[in-house]
Amino acid sequence: MKTIIEQLSDIVSKGFSDAGYDSSYGKVGISNRPDLCEFQCNGAMALAKEYHKAPIAIAQEVCDKLAGNSSFSQIEAVPPGFLNIKVSDDFLVSFLNEMERSDKFGLECGSTRKIIVDYGGPNVAKPLHVGHLRAAIIGESVKRICRYFGNDVIGDVHLGDWGLQMGLIITELRYRKPYLEYFNDEYTGSYSAQPPFTLSELEEIYPCASAKSKEDEAYKEEALEATRQLQDGKRGYRALWRHIMEVSVPDLKRNYKDLNVEFDWWKGESSVDDLIGDMVDDMKDGGYAYESEGALVVDVAEDSDTKEIPPCMILKSDGAALYTTTDLATLLDRKKSFDPDQVIYVVDKRQEMHFIQVFRCAKKCGIVDKDTKLDFLGFGTMNGKDGKPFKTREGGVMRLETLIADIRETMLHKIMENHETDEEEARRTAEVVALAAIKYGDLSNQATKDYIFDTDKFTSFEGNTGPYILYTIVRIKSILNKYMESAGIDGTDPAKKMPHVIGNFANEYEKSLMLDLARFAQVMNSAYEEITPHKICAYIYEICNDFNRFYHETRILTEDDASRKDGWIALLLLTRRILETCIDLLGFSAPEKM
Ligand code: ARG
Repeated sequence: MKTIIEQLSDIVSKGFSDAGYDSSYGKVGISNRPDLCEFQCNGAMALAKEYHKAPIAIAQEVCDKLAGNSSFSQIEAVPPGFLNIKVSDDFLVSFLNEMERSDKFGLECGSTRKIIVDYGGPNVAKPLHVGHLRAAIIGESVKRICRYFGNDVIGDVHLGDWGLQMGLIITELRYRKPYLEYFNDEYTGSYSAQPPFTLSELEEIYPCASAKSKEDEAYKEEALEATRQLQDGKRGYRALWRHIMEVSVPDLKRNYKDLNVEFDWWKGESSVDDLIGDMVDDMKDGGYAYESEGALVVDVAEDSDTKEIPPCMILKSDGAALYTTTDLATLLDRKKSFDPDQVIYVVDKRQEMHFIQVFRCAKKCGIVDKDTKLDFLGFGTMNGKDGKPFKTREGGVMRLETLIADIRETMLHKIMENHETDEEEARRTAEVVALAAIKYGDLSNQATKDYIFDTDKFTSFEGNTGPYILYTIVRIKSILNKYMESAGIDGTDPAKKMPHVIGNFANEYEKSLMLDLARFAQVMNSAYEEITPHKICAYIYEICNDFNRFYHETRILTEDDASRKDGWIALLLLTRRILETCIDLLGFSAPEKM
């Protein structure tokens, strides 16, 4: 189905050609003066230069050709040369009814590309903290949006499981428990199935080792050496590595599950270790990689660069692999196993240079095809109210679990305050609403910008917040339930069905809501093409505002005119479906009551 903008553009383009002009000037857009009109066309302004004619004269000619068109309730030529348009009731209502009947509200979404979304990116052996929140939330939404369009999409967590942090843990453990068989080079038996540490021990070992390595050069050398030996395949270290994974990964999975974030692949940097050797050889043989100050590098600067892009380092002087190496080998692995048309990386924007280098190097060396789209969606920092990176009250790094628990608790209090419900039920509702508060609070900001995580604001039932969106959906559900009760629709009598034909509108509030709903495909297309989930947030916020205004101005359930009432109920059903679709794309859902 064509979008509302496309349909209106078709009509106006015909007006241009009927008036003797090129029809391509008939493009219609959403009005930027909603007080004056709903849609506008600026084509006459562009044409004026070509025809040496006043734009208003051209606009008037086109307007004359379109006068009386049943799709418009108003079309005007206004100085200096705009065409201001309002659509007719009939046009809008039949557009919405077509949306209502169509799969995915008429969105053209037969896209069948293969896309990998690389997001999450936690380093194992460290608990998830608030710094991991944005990658998870934004990445999950991007994945869902891509999938909604019909693409074959894989979400890959890309664990940081092969770097220095592993060597640090091994080194620290060797100091603490030197008697373990993992450190005995003579040992040839099988290793214990039981990990030599618990999760909380592991979470304490890492920061301890990391701090020591910053102060003690020799300690750091040992950790580097342990990392190298691990990568080289030293038996005892590989066994320890497996233990670290066994203990850490289930915890990561549990944390992501709490966020309603799901990955298809739980691969990591370690997964591609055996591809590195051949990849590096190919880069050398192809003449791309060369030695510079002992290290192996590939030049990736381009003539058009406005800032310096340093060479991409492939191997350190000691032969060790780097972050770039594993990312390049990962692209190779992805090509072999899935052959994606596009890979989208949702990572902290401070890593932009790394990805510029990796992308250029991958293309230059033929690791990916020239037409594989590689996108870096770099996100900004989540700050506290003081404008500095979000911290606990004591100034430490806040664990994600703690943040989620805090927001759940806040929501629980608010829900219990609002009405007396069973605490168990309120708790379940609070979980659902808390997730919306966190995710919407994040996603409603443009991903590339820093934002302030403001608990009071995010958990409020009013304003541009997740709870407000859910509150509106719950309100719609409750009206629909009451209607079903009064109409005796309970599923037992198949003849008794919900009305689904949207009727003509009775007030301006209703029309605003309808115009919002009609923009669905427009919004989805730009959220998908520009990878901008925040546009979906802005969209549903507008729908909710317009719905609530409509609701306050209209006595829906007590309306005497049955056909009018049914039309409204159908409109509510469509509103609810669209809102629920949108929040699902954002990665959260609505409760039944709240
Ligand atoms: N583990 C990395 C970090 O903590 C993020 C990984 C992002 N994804 C990637 N393919 N490099 O910084």
